[in-house]
Amino acid sequence: MWILLGFREVEEALFCVYSGRWMDSIVFMTMKMKRILVKEALGRESAMDSILVKGWVRTRRDSKAFSFVEVNDGSCLKNIQVVVDAALPDYEKIESVSTGAAVSVSGRLVASQGKGQKWEIQASDFEVLGIADAAYPLQKKGHSMEYLREIAHLRPRSNLFGCVFRVRNRLAFAVHQFFQEKDFLYVHTPLITANDCEGAGELFRVSSLDLKNPPMNDGEIDFSKDFFARPTFLTVSGQLEIEAFACALSNVYTFGPTFRAENSHTSRHASEFWMIEPEMAFCDLDGNMDLAEEFVKYLVRDILENCQEDLSLFARFVDKSLLNRLQFVVDRPFKRVDYTRAIELLQKSGKKFEYPAEYGANLQSEHERYLSEDHFKCPVTVYNFPKEIKPFYMRANDDGKTVGAMDLLVPKIGEIVGGSQREERLDVLAKNLEKHGLDAEEYWWYLELRQYGTVEHSGFGLGFERMLMFVTGMANIRDVIPFARTPGNAEF
Ligand code: 4AD
Ligand code: MG
Repeated sequence: MWILLGFREVEEALFCVYSGRWMDSIVFMTMKMKRILVKEALGRESAMDSILVKGWVRTRRDSKAFSFVEVNDGSCLKNIQVVVDAALPDYEKIESVSTGAAVSVSGRLVASQGKGQKWEIQASDFEVLGIADAAYPLQKKGHSMEYLREIAHLRPRSNLFGCVFRVRNRLAFAVHQFFQEKDFLYVHTPLITANDCEGAGELFRVSSLDLKNPPMNDGEIDFSKDFFARPTFLTVSGQLEIEAFACALSNVYTFGPTFRAENSHTSRHASEFWMIEPEMAFCDLDGNMDLAEEFVKYLVRDILENCQEDLSLFARFVDKSLLNRLQFVVDRPFKRVDYTRAIELLQKSGKKFEYPAEYGANLQSEHERYLSEDHFKCPVTVYNFPKEIKPFYMRANDDGKTVGAMDLLVPKIGEIVGGSQREERLDVLAKNLEKHGLDAEEYWWYLELRQYGTVEHSGFGLGFERMLMFVTGMANIRDVIPFARTPGNAEF
């Protein structure tokens, strides 16, 4: 018979085990107590005789007999309240338990007498692991978003940014879950490429040449002497490569960082952002639009179901209409309108746009927002754009004017998805390359996909950060990326 007499203290728990009957052996052993996350502690069904949590101090309040310390470890929005009895032997350590300090607390998890929390910790011991002095920038609340961007290394410790990055984590998980449930295969497309998929010339060059003394040939830098023996760039999209895999594995997706050296200073453009790009063989534009709409709905539903606590903070402090808008997106069908009709609607709107809506011009963000916010009052997919404003790879429609492109627009953001049916006819594609001034030789392998067993295929790109802005209500893309890269900014 074994009787556990044990008592546990701090991290080094001492278990006293008494072996019965003959009373001949008493075994002492020490065991490391396991730290649990605040989220787990607060979600417990029952009290705990011993608990160990670690985290950062949000606030400390002292009364005569006790100190109340709010500890947060980032696992959830809520803090756990720690009650420190002034009678504890080394209570004087409490002076260094200030906002921002890292602490380790052990004690008992008991029902809390205070309002708003089920559990609290009655500390039997506490330790300051890392002090934070009075200069700690998050001492006070109410900092501007601009200032918080300057302390991007500390802002995840604020309530707001903790919520943003927990939702970001869940959203990435939901992306994979959606595609895995549908038997799409995840493919890792390269970040270093030789092609400019979108043809917009917004490429960051990748080179190991000596910038001060590059090899020259006929007055030009000789990139054949560069690391990859050719000019190379950071990818703007994994599309061309994922097409090769769709034309072998049927339904595939890539999800990774993409880079654009575009000098845009807007709240929805970043120079480094993440994109999810599914690609489907044997699929036309309609099937593509169906998937994009289903995907966006799925992601919104998943976040509504799994990030309630974090969303409640956005709904209180960032965007009061957030939850209604998200629920609306889940409940209602999206609208579809072709580009020509969309231009008519914009022209008839009676609205004064900074850029007038004209057939043949790209939709500006103000147009996109008018369509989704004011006219349709819901997400809307615009399709069949004039071929002149779209890249070489989009499939030419029979009207000779438009291509099978689609953009999914959502309220507050505008374009969140861009995609198309791809040109699968070798001769048409070769002509398109020429019309776009691209060298067919450089696209030889892309053309071969059409030479050998070509099939109808389609895909799109969803901007991960724009989706995150949509589900959180955050107004600036810089505030949904851990360390934003925008023109002039790459400090952290
Ligand atoms: O519309 P885009 O440029 O489409 C493509 O790159 C296609 N090759 C995708 C494909 O068909 N596989 O970009 C797709 C989405 C946009 O709708 C937008 O949400 C996002 O990527 N995006 C950006 N997000 C943040 N910052 C930028 N600079 C972005 N540019 C595009
Ligand atoms: Mg686009």
